[in-house]
Amino acid sequence: MNYLPNQDRYSNMQYNRCGKSGLKLSAIALGLWHNFGGVTVFENSRAMMRRAFDLGITHFDLANNYGPPPGAAEENFGKIFKQDFQGYRDEMVIATKAGYDMWPGPYGNWGSKKYLMASLDQSLKRMGLDYVDIFYHHRPDPETPLEETMGALDLIVRQGKALYIGISNYQAAEAKKAIEILKRFGTPCLIHQASYSMFNRWVEAELLGLLQEEGVGCIAFSPLAKGLLTGRYLKGIPADSRAASPSIFLNPDDITEAKMAKVRELNEIAVARGQSLAQMALAWILRDGKVTSVLIGASKPGQIDDCVGAIKSLDFADEELERIEKILA
Ligand SMILES: NC(=O)c1ccc[n+]([C@@H]2O[C@H](COP(=O)([O-])OP(=O)(O)OC[C@H]3O[C@@H](n4cnc5c(N)ncnc54)[C@H](OP(=O)(O)O)[C@@H]3O)[C@@H](O)[C@H]2O)c1
Repeated sequence: MNYLPNQDRYSNMQYNRCGKSGLKLSAIALGLWHNFGGVTVFENSRAMMRRAFDLGITHFDLANNYGPPPGAAEENFGKIFKQDFQGYRDEMVIATKAGYDMWPGPYGNWGSKKYLMASLDQSLKRMGLDYVDIFYHHRPDPETPLEETMGALDLIVRQGKALYIGISNYQAAEAKKAIEILKRFGTPCLIHQASYSMFNRWVEAELLGLLQEEGVGCIAFSPLAKGLLTGRYLKGIPADSRAASPSIFLNPDDITEAKMAKVRELNEIAVARGQSLAQMALAWILRDGKVTSVLIGASKPGQIDDCVGAIKSLDFADEELERIEKILA
């Protein structure tokens, strides 16, 4: 069936400026790490993309290795894009990355110019795109000179294969160096993609301050702690959840009683605020404007509806924030 997007799609989403750039990102972005690969139901992935776009999500995040198998998420995204979104390319901010294991041998991983240039060409073919909006270096490479990696990102922008570039998983000191080098090259770093959730607050120490000073945006990945900070595990481990799935990134052992005790207490605050726990966890990240966008994953369209509902209530009373601090301590 032909897809006609919701005409009201821009009325309920918030769009935040990414650092000091000209680009705004939807406050909620959809990541295709899980549930878009070769083992998932294609029509479900397609329905999630449509739902996200209908709700005003403009930003879609991929990487060369998302699947399984690696590359499958980009291929499926390419099929969905061709079927449903070709007429809407200019309303979308599409990101991909390279940095993790992609093909055998010394040129299929890390941060050499050889790897990054080849990987982006492969990604563009898989997705059927002429360019991506954002291309990231996915993780720092301890061996390749940072000048080489950043030089490849700069070249990619000059070639028109990406409009903007970003870094991911860089610690504050590494990020500072990368941002400086990119400034020298004349291709500013648009964004840092970092893990951040109520259960994982490392960015608060230094990174968020640095990014603000430098005018670089921040997108928080796994803001729901891969599903833990939702109602998903309140009554055990559902058979269709990530923890029960073959994904190695969340296991039944991660759903500890200590974590669940915190989840239950947080859920009480969410209920009192009239929100789902997922909505409160996302609002909490967006609460003070230091983070441009929260990058969620989903396994069903309804989860995206729920998450986007967070936008309705992003403010916290001081006593709510204090209670949350005590629970997380
Ligand atoms: N740069 C990096 O190194 C890096 C690393 C990891 C992720 N990422 C990016 O971040 C994106 C998100 O990561 P993530 O999937 O771990 O994020 P997440 O948002 O923390 O977790 C997503 C999971 O939470 C559950 N969920 C989502 N909304 C829900 C709701 N409203 N109610 C109940 N459960 C809900 C679903 O679990 P079920 O599947 O169990 O239903 C979903 O798969 C990825 O797709 C990727 O684009 C980047």
